[in-house]
Amino acid sequence: MRTQPGKSKALPKSMATESPPNDAIALLMADHEHVKDLFDQFDGLGERAMVSKKKLVDDICNELTKHTMIEEELFYPAVRALGKQFEDDIDEALVEHAAAKQLIAQLLTMDASDDLYDAKVTVLSEQIAHHVEEEEGDIFATVRKSALDLVALGSQMAQRKQQIPDPAR
Ligand SMILES: [Fe+2]
Ligand SMILES: [Fe+2]
Repeated sequence: MRTQPGKSKALPKSMATESPPNDAIALLMADHEHVKDLFDQFDGLGERAMVSKKKLVDDICNELTKHTMIEEELFYPAVRALGKQFEDDIDEALVEHAAAKQLIAQLLTMDASDDLYDAKVTVLSEQIAHHVEEEEGDIFATVRKSALDLVALGSQMAQRKQQIPDPAR
């Protein structure tokens, strides 16, 4: 669900001060929320809503492609540079991205009526949910306490994201 500025409930003070709206982590978490919303919309579609299914899955593939690219190009290297404690988590994240990219590449070439289309969307959704849980729980929480300039990084990431073309049009 999207929250309107000014209409959202006040956040607890610690959260409000820890999450400036434009920082790198806030940007990535907003993407996570958006993609989850798209997967939920897919789940709500009827079995035969082929055009809507394809359109939603194209949106999901576009979003995930841009999101994983800004993480791999900018966020993960910045986190890795913070120290060895992040090495295993970032390595795992990259392997999970690679698995997601394979499913995305397949879905982009498929029709919504193809065998296994829905199954591939479901598996992608489950894999992404797991990945997001680990990112938010293991990586973001610790990075938030580090000295990394998340606002500067966030603006770089937002700029880069706008340059990446959509794989599905
Ligand atoms: Fe992410
Ligand atoms: Fe990721």
